[in-house]
Amino acid sequence: MLVQALLLLAAQAAPVPPGEEAVPPYAQSDANAGARPFAGTAMLDAFHGRAGIARIVDDLVATNLADPRIADIFRGQDLVRLRRVLGEHFCYLLGGGCTYTGRDMRTAHANMGVQAKDMNALVANLQAAMTREGVAFGAQNAFLSRLAPMRRNVVTR
Ligand code: HEM
Repeated sequence: MLVQALLLLAAQAAPVPPGEEAVPPYAQSDANAGARPFAGTAMLDAFHGRAGIARIVDDLVATNLADPRIADIFRGQDLVRLRRVLGEHFCYLLGGGCTYTGRDMRTAHANMGVQAKDMNALVANLQAAMTREGVAFGAQNAFLSRLAPMRRNVVTR
């Protein structure tokens, strides 16, 4: 109880990065990423380091916004924050040594009404972004497998 209160206090005290909107306070933890990172540097190398990950995240967000199947879900959201924390999320999971400062998957996607077909569209867009970056298919599939269990916390109807 006391620990939770202190964590909440710390979260409240965290400044809002420039260009971003404030979100309701939450406890920051790498555990919010919803999976453990890959060990070693093989995955980071396959994704062309942090620069490659940043390119994939930018491509993915832009592709989602241009995709009539799911654009409405992204429109009007804080895309500055989304790019930053999604970049941290991927970087953390891929063994890039980043800290994940975002919310857990259930909280982040609550009340969004994401359906299975939306999830499938996003996964296809992520595959396309990874392919454009030149990430080998084996590494793509390893990453998608790590994300797959998050589906149950993202898809709410
Ligand atoms: C395994 C699949 C997914 C992963 C790993 C993922 C990851 C993330 C992360 C890390 C955030 C940022 C959390 C934060 O702001 O603290 C986020 C937010 C968001 N995600 Fe996802 N996501 C997934 C699936 C989806 C799907 C299928 C959609 C919709 C089609 C979606 C739409 C969004 C939107 C709109 C936000 C911004 C929420 C806000 O600013 O309040 N996500 N996601």
